[in-house]
Amino acid sequence: MRRLNVANSNKTLKVVKELDAFPKVPEDYKKTTVSGGGLSIITFIIMILLFVSEFQYYRSTELKYKYQVDTNFTSKLQVNIDMTVAMQCNDMGADILDITGQDTHSFGKLDLEPAYFELSPEQKEYQSFILDVNRYLQTEYHAVQEVLWRSGGPDFRGGMPPREDNPSGKPDSCRVSGSLTVNKVAGNFHITAGKSIPIIPRGHAHLAMMLDETDYNFSHRIDHLSFGEPIAGVIYPLDGEQLVTKNNYHTFQYFMKVVPTSVRTYAANVDTYQFAVTERNRSINHREGSHGVPGIFVKYDLNPIKIEVREERQPFWQFLVRMCGIVGGVFAVSGMLHDFCGCVIDIICCRYFNNKNTSSNNTSSKNISTPQPMSSLINNLPTECSDKTPLFSTDINLNT
Ligand SMILES: *[C@@H]1O[C@H](CO)[C@@H](O)[C@H](O)[C@H]1NC(C)=O
Ligand SMILES: *[C@@H]1O[C@H](CO)[C@@H](O)[C@H](O)[C@H]1NC(C)=O
Ligand SMILES: *[C@@H]1O[C@H](CO)[C@@H](O)[C@H](O)[C@H]1NC(C)=O
Ligand SMILES: *[C@@H]1O[C@H](CO)[C@@H](O)[C@H](O)[C@H]1NC(C)=O
Ligand SMILES: *[C@@H]1O[C@H](CO)[C@@H](O)[C@H](O)[C@H]1NC(C)=O
Ligand SMILES: *[C@@H]1O[C@H](CO)[C@@H](O)[C@H](O)[C@H]1NC(C)=O
Ligand SMILES: *[C@@H]1O[C@H](CO)[C@@H](O)[C@H](O)[C@H]1NC(C)=O
Repeated sequence: MRRLNVANSNKTLKVVKELDAFPKVPEDYKKTTVSGGGLSIITFIIMILLFVSEFQYYRSTELKYKYQVDTNFTSKLQVNIDMTVAMQCNDMGADILDITGQDTHSFGKLDLEPAYFELSPEQKEYQSFILDVNRYLQTEYHAVQEVLWRSGGPDFRGGMPPREDNPSGKPDSCRVSGSLTVNKVAGNFHITAGKSIPIIPRGHAHLAMMLDETDYNFSHRIDHLSFGEPIAGVIYPLDGEQLVTKNNYHTFQYFMKVVPTSVRTYAANVDTYQFAVTERNRSINHREGSHGVPGIFVKYDLNPIKIEVREERQPFWQFLVRMCGIVGGVFAVSGMLHDFCGCVIDIICCRYFNNKNTSSNNTSSKNISTPQPMSSLINNLPTECSDKTPLFSTDINLNT
């Protein structure tokens, strides 16, 4: 029994030994060459470069986008507004009307407080900063996730700093600020002359009978306008916008498409809304055929497609596989190149010496004294080029 076991294990060992993909070559049989050494150095440099770039790639992340129908049908939409209109608060009304025809007061209430249209120096600085950022964003990046992703969320939400000076005179304008929670359907936020009164069964009207033409001035500045929870690190496209008109009867229109977006990055994890906006303005002059109601109208509509942005990093095992591929691939390819170059050099040399007829005495037993066609030379390659590359050849078989 014991003997059998021993015999068996010997047999197994032998089989395993035959499977050896890494046969040991005694040092004496290895021949190192200058070309092999030079190639090894180049190979290592290439491998290091590839390793570094691969490691950088592994460290970096990429954004994956997914588009799907927005199935969050029950939710409400928060609208955040902070703007200043160059009119007295008593002369104007601000509210939202949506296509459900729901009573506007149920959405919440905006604060109207007297303010000065002219900003203080510090506030002006902030506004121009915001405008610069917006201009930059419009040319460089277009999406909220990119901003979040790059900035890692610096906090601009501190918003407009409070006035540091105390302007004299009566406040000349009205600041409209606050958040409204509206239905997630198309709607219309507007600021027009006169307070609104509800009209049964649907909608409302603004009472503006006692107003003088000179009371109208819809020049305005938008300090903030966004949908959803405001996010730190994001500046919305209309922030900082200031439009001043010389006409009393002027209408400003903003057409917005609100896009639900969820951002899952390493820096941020938010559900928000981006929007695209188109801006129009014109003077109202009934005599010249430009009819309409003076005011500021923000028409928004919701995009049915939701964007999901995910930041992903490639898994570590993939990185390992790539590393192995690089090391093995570079070794194999450089070995093959070395072989090939050696052969090419041999061929060129042989031909050269043959043609000159100065071949050494010991060329070989083979008949190469007459120039042969290229094809036959190439056929002879394997025997001529064997064991040229001690560094890379792995198939040296000593048993034969
Ligand atoms: C729907 O949206 C609201 C707010 O936008 C969020 O709190 C809620 O989790 C969402 N529901 C689903 C099912 O995604
Ligand atoms: C009205 O819009 C035009 C472009 O359509 C623009 O050049 C002009 O500055 C705007 N006017 C005001 C008062 O913003
Ligand atoms: C409206 O107010 C702004 C800022 O105070 C001013 O520059 C502009 O001339 C006014 N427009 C009219 C028509 O009064
Ligand atoms: C090569 O040299 C030998 C003498 O060494 C000469 O006999 C032979 O003709 C030469 N062949 C050619 C191709 O020049
Ligand atoms: C070839 O060998 C002979 C003697 O074996 C020698 O005289 C001759 O110089 C050698 N020629 C070359 C090119 O080495
Ligand atoms: C030439 O070949 C002979 C045997 O064929 C060998 O003894 C001699 O050393 C060789 N000469 C050179 C320079 O390799
Ligand atoms: C070498 O070539 C010559 C003529 O080119 C031929 O006579 C001779 O037999 C050839 N030798 C061998 C070994 O092929």
